[in-house]
Parts: sequence; C-alpha cells; structure tokens
Amino acid sequence: MTIFYDEQQKSFHLQNEHISYVFCIEEDHYVAHSYWGKKINRYVQTGDYPRIDRSFSPNPHPMTDRLFSLDTLLQEFPGGGTGDFRESAFELEYEDGTTVTQFKYKNYHIRSGKPVLNGLPATYVKEDNEADTLEITLEDAHSKMEVKLSYTIFSDRPIITRSVKFLNNGQQLVKINKALSSNVDFDDSNYELIQLPGSWGRERHLKRDPLTRGVHVLDSKRGTGSHVYQPFSALVRPETTEHTGEVFGFHFIYSGEFTARIEVDPFDQTRVLMGINPEHFSWNLNPGEEFQTPEVVLVYSETGLNGMSQSLHKLYRERLTRGVHQLEERPVLVNNWEATYFDFNEEKILNLADEAKELGIELVVLDDGWFGKRNDDFTSLGDWFLNEEKLPKGLGQLADEVKAKGLKFGIWFEPEMISEDSELYRAHPDWCVHVQGRTKSLGRSQYVLDYSRKEVRENIVEQLTKVMDELPLDYVKWDYNRNMTEIGSAALNVNQKETAHRFMLGLYEVLETLTTRYPKILFESCSGGGGRYDPGMLYYMPQTWTSDNTDAISRLKIQYGTSLLFPISSMGAHVSDIPNHQVNRNTSMKLRGDVAMSGNLGYELDLTTLSDSEKAEVKKQIQFYKEHRRLIQYGDFYRLLSPFDSNEETSWMFVSEDKQEALFFYYQILSEAHAPSKRVKLVGLDPNKVYQVEGFDQPIGGDELMNSGLYLNPELVGDFESRRLLLKAVR
Ligand code: DGJ
Repeated sequence: MTIFYDEQQKSFHLQNEHISYVFCIEEDHYVAHSYWGKKINRYVQTGDYPRIDRSFSPNPHPMTDRLFSLDTLLQEFPGGGTGDFRESAFELEYEDGTTVTQFKYKNYHIRSGKPVLNGLPATYVKEDNEADTLEITLEDAHSKMEVKLSYTIFSDRPIITRSVKFLNNGQQLVKINKALSSNVDFDDSNYELIQLPGSWGRERHLKRDPLTRGVHVLDSKRGTGSHVYQPFSALVRPETTEHTGEVFGFHFIYSGEFTARIEVDPFDQTRVLMGINPEHFSWNLNPGEEFQTPEVVLVYSETGLNGMSQSLHKLYRERLTRGVHQLEERPVLVNNWEATYFDFNEEKILNLADEAKELGIELVVLDDGWFGKRNDDFTSLGDWFLNEEKLPKGLGQLADEVKAKGLKFGIWFEPEMISEDSELYRAHPDWCVHVQGRTKSLGRSQYVLDYSRKEVRENIVEQLTKVMDELPLDYVKWDYNRNMTEIGSAALNVNQKETAHRFMLGLYEVLETLTTRYPKILFESCSGGGGRYDPGMLYYMPQTWTSDNTDAISRLKIQYGTSLLFPISSMGAHVSDIPNHQVNRNTSMKLRGDVAMSGNLGYELDLTTLSDSEKAEVKKQIQFYKEHRRLIQYGDFYRLLSPFDSNEETSWMFVSEDKQEALFFYYQILSEAHAPSKRVKLVGLDPNKVYQVEGFDQPIGGDELMNSGLYLNPELVGDFESRRLLLKAVR
C-alpha cells in the first residue's frame, strides 16, 4: 500500500520509494497541502499551518481564530469568494446567481488500482498492485454539492495523477463555470518556470524563466490545444540542470482548451493550477448528475529535466498508449505530401512506391487530396469518398498495387473538418461549429465539424469505416488544420458554453470507436504538424507528426523540446527535400537523416528525383535505422547539448535498457574559425562497462566517456554537420 492515513493528525501520506505527497485536514474542514517531493519516511509536521494574524486576511471562524485564514493556507482544491484571493480551482454558480461554495471535508476512501475515467483519455494500470487511489470527498452543506478529489500514486514511478468529480446532490441546477483538475500550493517561490511555447512550424521551444510575482498563464482558447502552448508547466530550482536538481512537472491529459496558471502570492507561496480553460467552458449540472474532469500528471524528479523526461516517456509508453503498436517497432515510411502536394496521380504514387521499396522503406502514405474533388485546400473536407478524377482506377486498386510490392499502405483523413464546397456542407450547413445568426470565420477555407452532435459523429464514422473496411489499410494519419472560432452548436439549446468540451468528448468517442474497430491500423495524429501533440491524443494514437517544419536544423529545437515530455516512439520525423520548403535551407542528406532518425524515421520528398549518391545514402540510413530502431524508439533518451543554449551545437544519445548499446548524435549548427576543442560528456552508460565506440581504435570505459567525454574534432568542419556514433559494450 502506498497511501497512509494518520487518524490522529488527520493527514494523508502518499508515498513510494521515490516520492512523498502529504496533505491534511485543517480545522476539521479544509484540505491543506503539506509536502510534495522526494520520499520522506515519516512526515510529522502536517497540520502545522503557521498561525500569524495577517492584516486583511479574512478568518472563516471569526470568534475563535484570527490566526487562521484561507488567504494564506496552502490548499489542495481552493475556491474563490471565501477568503482565498488567489486563482481558484473551481467556480459553481447557483440559480440565484451567487457563486459562493464552502466545500468542507466529508470523508475519504482508499482503494488499490486506478479507476477508469469514462470517456476521457487517462493513464491506466494493468494490475491493481501498480497503483493506489485515494478519493477525498468534500461537501457544501448549503447546496449539497459534492466534489471528489482523486489522487492515484503509481507504486514504482515518481508520479501522481489527479482529477476531480463534481456531483449535484441538491435540488437545483448548478452551473459549473470552472472545473480545474489539480492544484498544488508550494510554500516558496524559489523556482524557475519551464514551458514549451511555440507556433506553427516552431513547436515546443524550451523556455525557462525566473518565477516572478503575479499570475502566469499558459493556455489555449483555440477550441483544442495548439502550437502555441503545451498543456504543461514545470517548476525547477534555479540550480536544476538537465541531470541534477528538483523538477515539479504538470502535464494535462486533454486535447481541448486548457489552462495552466502559476501564481506567486504576497507571501512568496506558489500556486500551480491546471485544467480545462474556463474561457469557453461552463457546464449545467442538474440534480443527480456528475461531471468528471480530465486528469493531470504530476511528476517529480530529483535528477533534473532528464529525470522528468524519462519518467514521462516510460509512463506514456507503458501506461498511456495502447494497442498492438504500443511497443512495436515503427515502420519507415514515405509520405507524398511534400513530394507532390495535391498534384498526384496513380502513376506518381506507384513510382514513389517503387523507389521506396528499392530504398528499404516499408510504408507508403497517401496524404491529402485523394477524396471528393480535392485538388486544393478550398474543397471537399467531409466528402470521404474517392477523387475519381485523380485516381480513376480506385483507391483499392492503388492500395493493392502498393501492397503487391511488399509495402504497407496508409492514408490521410481530416475527419473533424468540413469545407463549404462539399456535399456534406450542402446537405447539412448547420453541422459545423458556429453561433447561429453570426458570421462564421473560415480557417484554411474550412469549418470545424460539430462533434458535440451525435448525428455528425455517426455520419463521419460511417463514411470513414466504409473506406477503412474496403481498403487494406496499415496506417492512418488523422489531421486537424485550424483553430475554432465562434464556438457554439446549432443542436445545443441549453448552455452553448458546453460546446467545446462536448466536442472533445465527441472526438474521444469517435477515436475510441475507430481505434477499437481497427486494432491493426497504426494511427498517427497531426494538427498542421504538432498543433495537437498532447497526451490525450497519445492515448488513442501512439504516433504524432511532430511539425510541418521538416528542416533538419529547425527540427533540432523542435525535437529537443518535444523530448522533454514525449517518448521518441511517438515522434514522427521525416527527411525532406532541399532547399527546405519551410525555411529554404540547404543541408546534406546525411544531416537530414541523422536528425530524422532520432525519431520515427520517414521520408517526405520525391524519391524518384534523387541522385544515385543520395539514393545510396538513403539506403544506408534506412538499413542502419532498421538495425537500431528498437534502441532509438524505445531506449532511454538523454539530451546532452541544447540548441537553445547556443547557435552552434546540439547533442543527444540513446542507451539501451541493459546499457549494452548506445547511439550518440552530435550536430554542429554553425562552425567557427579556430574553434575550441569539442568534448562531449556522455550520459547513462554503465561506468563499469567498456565500450567500443565507432571510429575509435581503443575501447573506452563508460566511466571515462561519462566523466572525461569524447573528443569530436577535427572531423567536423563546416555548417550543418553531424556525427553519429554507435557504442557497443565489449566487456
Ligand atoms: C497538415 C499536415 O501537417 C501536413 O503534413 C499535411 O498532411 C497537410 N496538412 C495536408 O493538408
């Protein structure tokens, strides 16, 4: 058991060999936070809330205690309007328009295992002994509203997950205006804030800033997640590095609008809240109904950012992703998007397939443009039937011919969208997300389908299953290419602000239906590249297209940032043409290969136009990748040199679980005259093993490689160079 209740102190201690998380019941009512961090055997200071009479801090027990105030109490699930003036975790509105709720502790329940969150993506356990779950029930006596705070601690991971359920046991309709999933109050503010902001083509750039007074908001108001912020934040100590020091990470398992609010209060306490963004959210809870929030992952590391990444990579690989591909080696693919865009026909795809086969590629992906009359991006989304003009022999025939060559076959869909110029829109103009009577904004000339509506979901599932039943599909790329605007639904007549969350629940239902019905298909999610790369989507689809920016140098930052949270096996990375289509940069085939093979390797260029020497290089890359992809996709990943620290270099490496094998990459971005010698210290090896390093005469001890490092010059001369070294333990 990992959850202990101390009756005398009224304290709860969640504990495993890595972490402790402690809170207690103050004044018989309030759930007060005590500690989160490295494991403590016995925590005795619970309930030691510092009693100080603070001016202007209200007291809920006026006659008895001016020393107690919610204004300063470290809380587990704070509300507003009752004396805590910081950001709140929830807001409930009653029929008379008031929003005051006074939740008080009622009881607790401990069980082994982890309950499923119905209709929502979440981490899971396979056996009950993998985790324990504590549920704390609070009640508002006045309204009879209840809230259940759920905490799951994994037995052998430094990870706790939190979510919240609201129950209306009263007689009146309650409007939930805000329902966040977790709050942690820290008693100091000596932290730096880590986040992963970005934009299209520049996703998940690592940013680290000192934490200052005020409220810091990282969020999405775009209907779903976006390129702009990741539903993630972490507090680190100023001295924390990649490999040492404390990290407190928060990651939200949700693909809709989210908010992460980090507030430093007047007493230098820090509050970290996370959950569904209240901006476009409210929920009508009728008597007898309940509302479940999605889950937040809380991860603690005392071994720096890398420690956090490895815990998350393992959790997401083992207990978030599912299905037959979960731990399978991922195929090397060719995608025709940057090779042809919309301008393809059967011949072009088959020629691409022939060349792909020759080079060792395993999967051909037919991207956007195979359906309706889609020859540009103004038309046909929603019409998931063959573009006969483009593929007169049919998709089945094309798929069969590709498969006859010994290749796998996959196609692209964008099933949450509808073009104005489509049969679907002409038949159902009110099936898109919109506010009736208001102008609808287009994005990439398309609207978002209203997945909050059952009939819309059923229509799309029916259309997709028709295609998927008829084709011998091995892979599906699921795209989403705009942000939502004018969020509302023609079918929702009670509370329009439920639309965005209902859309997400609808999407999750569709994804569950399709991934269950087609267990053998490998699904890859995408949103203009990595616009919806989040753990919610990962629950249904084990791969994501990392970014539409395929330039190898840009990708160093994007893949480095992405690796902070996401396992390498989830990260699509393609070699593309030069000059690069997004940034016009020229780089060598070797560099492009060395960057792309640090993820799920693919190619996205016209292979038929490659020179003989380029083909030879590609063939070598693929052969090497196939030999080592288990190490890359499922090994331990270590970041060594950050592209965010300088414009000169990046380095990372992969180490097998048994530490017998490792793969090291070094990328020289800009070269310098008379450059100082370059020595990189490796990480994660066995100090007692001796490794044969490719290109070095003598085997070198793991301890030497990690403490003294590897000299890299003089070979690296020039911009955009890379070095890849395989290490094998020889004793
Ligand atoms: C955006 C994706 O990220 C691209 O890879 C491609 O599939 C296009 N959409 C197609 O429209």
